Amino acid sequence: MHTAVEERIIRPARNILGSLRLPGDKSISHRYGMLAAFAEGTSRFTNFSTGADCASTLACMEALGAKINKLGATQSDEGTVEVTGVAGRVTPSSKPLDCGNSGSTMRMISGLLAPQQGTFTLIGDASLSRRPMGRIQKPLAEMGAKLTLTEGHAPLIIEGAALKAIDYTTPVPSAQVKSCVLLAGLQTAGTTTVREAIRTRDHSELALRAFGAEVKRSTESVSITGPQKLHAIEAAVPGDISSAAFFLCAASLFPGSSLVLDSLGLNPTRATLLDVLTALGAHIAVLNLEEKNAELVGTVQITAPPDGLRSTTISGSLAAQLIDELPVLAAIAPYTSGGIRIRDAKELRVKESDRIALVAKNLRAMGAEVEEFEDGLDVPGGQTLHGATIDSGGDHRIAMAFSVAALRAEGETLIQGAESAAISFPEFFTLLDQVAER
Ligand code: S3P
Repeated sequence: MHTAVEERIIRPARNILGSLRLPGDKSISHRYGMLAAFAEGTSRFTNFSTGADCASTLACMEALGAKINKLGATQSDEGTVEVTGVAGRVTPSSKPLDCGNSGSTMRMISGLLAPQQGTFTLIGDASLSRRPMGRIQKPLAEMGAKLTLTEGHAPLIIEGAALKAIDYTTPVPSAQVKSCVLLAGLQTAGTTTVREAIRTRDHSELALRAFGAEVKRSTESVSITGPQKLHAIEAAVPGDISSAAFFLCAASLFPGSSLVLDSLGLNPTRATLLDVLTALGAHIAVLNLEEKNAELVGTVQITAPPDGLRSTTISGSLAAQLIDELPVLAAIAPYTSGGIRIRDAKELRVKESDRIALVAKNLRAMGAEVEEFEDGLDVPGGQTLHGATIDSGGDHRIAMAFSVAALRAEGETLIQGAESAAISFPEFFTLLDQVAER
C-alpha cells in the first residue's frame, strides 16, 4: 500500500487543557491480537489499538487462518475487534506475511511460527527490513528452529519444526525477544526460561496468563512449560501510555496546563515516564487505579510546574524502560532549566529510524544546541527554539516528538512525513488540536 507523504504545520500553543481517553496500548494490542488468533474460541476486545502496526499483526494472523472482525461502523464501536483463533494450529500462507513497519509483529510472530508445521516468509517495509533480526534467530536456533535471514535482516524464512526447551539470557534487554522465545516455549515440551538483566515490559507474561497459560516469574526470569493451550478472552485494552507521553510532555511545558487522561495503562514496567516528569517538577496525580486482566489502569492528571521544568539524567535500567519515550523527552529538554542527559540508550539507533541521529538533527534544525553520543544525547536547558522543517524519517515517534517541541518554539514548524504518526497513533494531530490552546 502506498501512503502519500503528508506535511503538517504545528503552530505554537499557550497551554494544554482538557481531558482525553486514548486508544488502546500498542504493545498489549499486539499480544491480545496474536494470542487470540492462536487460541481456541472467539475473543472480543474493546479499545484495541487503532495504529497500523497492530493492523499488521491482525492481517498476518488472518492470513494464517484466524478470523478477524473489526467492528467500527459507529463511533462507540471504534476499536472493537473480534478474533476467532486457530486453536493452536495455523495454516501456512502461500503469500509472504507482511509485517509492515512493525518490529513487534515480526519478532513475536517468528516465535509463534517456529514450532508450527510449514514454511513461512516474513517481510516488512524498508525501515523494518533494516532492523536486526539476528537477536531472535539466535535463541530460536538454540531451540532447534530453522530460520533464514538475509544478512541479519528480513526477509525471514521459517521452516517450522519441533523445538526443544532452552534457558536463555537475553544479551540486550528486549521485550520482543523475550516474547518471541516464550511463544515458542508455549508450544514446546519442557520448561523454557528467559532471563533478563533489566526487566522489560511484561505484557506477554500477563497476557499469556489471561489466556489461561501458566507462566512462572521471578525477579530476573520468566518460565513457561509447554505445550499449553490458550482460551479466548474478553478484554478492554488500556490507553497507550507511550502515546500519552506526547501529551504529558506537552502539558508539562506550559505553566497553567492541566490535562486529565482517562483509562490509561499504568503497568509499572511502562509507567517510568511519570517518575521522570515528577523529577522534572511536574505534578502528577493517579486516580481510580484498577486491575484489568492483570494490567493496571488508572486516570492520570498532570499539572505543569509554575516555574518550569528542572533537569534530569536518564541512564542504566531507566533508559531501557523509557526507550519509546526518549525521543519526546529529548525534544522537550531544551525547554527545561538544566537540560536532559541520556545515556545507555544505544538501542535507539536500531528502532524505526536511528532515533539518536534524527533527534539531534531536528533539534539543531530548530536552533538548539545538542551533543550526540553513541548511546545517547546531552541536551542543555534554557534554550529558545524556532520553528523549522522537521525530517521525521518516516518514524512515528519522531514526527510526534517534534510536534510537541514545536508547541513552544517561536514561529511555525513543518513536520515532514506526518502520516507516520498513524503507525501507532492515527488520532494524534486531531487530539493535539483539541487540547492545545492557541
Ligand atoms: C515493544 C518492545 C520494545 C519497544 C517497542 C515495543 C514490545 O522493543 O521499543 O516499541 O511491544 O514488546 P524491544 O523489544 O526491541 O526493546
